[in-house]
Amino acid sequence: MITRDLDLALDRLRHGGLVAIPTETVYGLAADAEQPDAVHRIFAAKGRPADHPLIVHLAGIEAADGWIDPSADDRVLGWVAALAAACWPGPLTMLVPRGPRVLDAVTGGRPTVGIRVPAHPLTLQLLERLAGGLAAPSANRFGRVSPTTAAHVLSDLAGHLDPERDAILDGGACPIGVESTIVDLTVTPPQVLRSGGIDAADIARILSIEVTGASGPSRASGMLIAHYAPACEVVVVDDAAAAAIEVASRQGQRVRVLDRTDDLVTAARELYADLRRADDDGLDALVAVLPPAEGLGHALRDRLVKASVGSRRDRPNPAG
Ligand code: TXA
Ligand code: MG
Repeated sequence: MITRDLDLALDRLRHGGLVAIPTETVYGLAADAEQPDAVHRIFAAKGRPADHPLIVHLAGIEAADGWIDPSADDRVLGWVAALAAACWPGPLTMLVPRGPRVLDAVTGGRPTVGIRVPAHPLTLQLLERLAGGLAAPSANRFGRVSPTTAAHVLSDLAGHLDPERDAILDGGACPIGVESTIVDLTVTPPQVLRSGGIDAADIARILSIEVTGASGPSRASGMLIAHYAPACEVVVVDDAAAAAIEVASRQGQRVRVLDRTDDLVTAARELYADLRRADDDGLDALVAVLPPAEGLGHALRDRLVKASVGSRRDRPNPAG
């Protein structure tokens, strides 16, 4: 099912198939955003509730016609243009009023849609040739760890994809490793709903306005408190000394410390592989040292805290 053949991937998408696509953040599980049956199959393959909206991936801002409401407020359209010029292709998803090409199946009936132009050459070529949009969530089972290689996608979704209709397009390991920043441009001031490679301070500088950060109430489902969870227990601590105390308290258990706080770019790129490895190695617990809350550190802290809540055995995991 893993392929590097762009013609095959395009053919599968045109015929209503699902194609896992490489992006600079994580792999997405894509369908032609204008084929409702194909979009419904994404939810079935992921085991994801139908009311959790999907991001539409586009080839560029010039391809955004019809995806954004043309009668949207000029101020919002101005923000889109400024952020697109500064950040696309790249790890930024913008929530905007939806245009006529957006299906209810993609947004769960919401009046807004998330759009982004991913920075991966294979996927950009695919989008250009499709001349449309690709609806794609991360290519993992719902609530679990996002995939950053084609092999991760296969191990999560092999039993849920059809080898005759679907495919996994192998574009190598994802260089950023955590999901895009999501900024809601339909509220004033704009609000970051999920932290990622571009932080609220970057967006505020580009737009020359105040931007609300990712803390507080939110409408993105990635903000479910339990998410990104491996099967083993994840314990977060503030520093190496606290990690040593945690390890010492777990005599007889298989425990590993995850401390990549000296290099946050590598920490992000390797995060989901690190979480998967903890399960592959049959650990009882992974003790993760939180990086400082700045730049990429915001995204890393968010994912690690959610992984820790999602993995806690003393409470049910609402993300399943
Ligand atoms: O980096 C990424 O964003 C990756 C790659 C594949 O592009 N995609 C990704 O998609 O992480 P997903 O579905 O796993 O996470 C998207 C989040 C979900 O929490 C979803 O609920 C939220 O974005 N979202 C999408 N459209 C939305 C909308 N119209 N309103 C509110 N939240 C939205
Ligand atoms: Mg996801």
